[in-house]
Amino acid sequence: KNIVILISGRGSNMQAIVRAARSEQWPCRIAAVISNRADAEGLAFAAENGIPTAVVVSKGLSREAFDAALQEQIDRFAPDLVVLAGFMRILTPAFVEHYAGRMLNIHPSLLPSFPGLATHSQALATGVKVHGATVHFVTAELDHGPIVAQAAVAVHPDDTEDTLAERVLVQEHLIYPRAVRWFVEGRLAIDNGLVRVQEEV
Ligand code: GRF
Repeated sequence: KNIVILISGRGSNMQAIVRAARSEQWPCRIAAVISNRADAEGLAFAAENGIPTAVVVSKGLSREAFDAALQEQIDRFAPDLVVLAGFMRILTPAFVEHYAGRMLNIHPSLLPSFPGLATHSQALATGVKVHGATVHFVTAELDHGPIVAQAAVAVHPDDTEDTLAERVLVQEHLIYPRAVRWFVEGRLAIDNGLVRVQEEV
């Protein structure tokens, strides 16, 4: 199975997935790491690990034109799965539809709570005692696709956005590789919007 990972910056989730795929010897290939930013630090990690990289910039392009260019680059690698990992773009419905059922995203909150940006400051502002991260299939509705995996962390009284983000990120690096492995192993089924993980095959 071919996996293409999209990043916009550090790419720490991408790195966690690359490392897990190697150490656990998943039956798949990380075919490419693609970014919408030429300065994404994650591109250097991918290149150092022998993974093909590409950059598709949005400057001067309409949303539709950017998505079309991105889709063309992605499909060069014939992906069975597209992984959004810190990819900071809102994708058009046509793009999302093209990868229906084979595109995952990680969102740093316990969806459906706190969709959108600045999730940790949203959590602190609302005084929740539990926060976390969610891996979900991407649908046209932002941050609302079928949920594959979640992890929860306690919110500490003295938490700042940074300390909370750091604690959540540790969990992201655990649940994202696991969710991608489940997909690669063909263990994910979606029944009317609900994801079932089939037992160890
Ligand atoms: C993470 O909080 C992730 O949940 C969000 O983007 C942040 C950076 O991710 N999607 P990464 O280090 O670029 O993978």
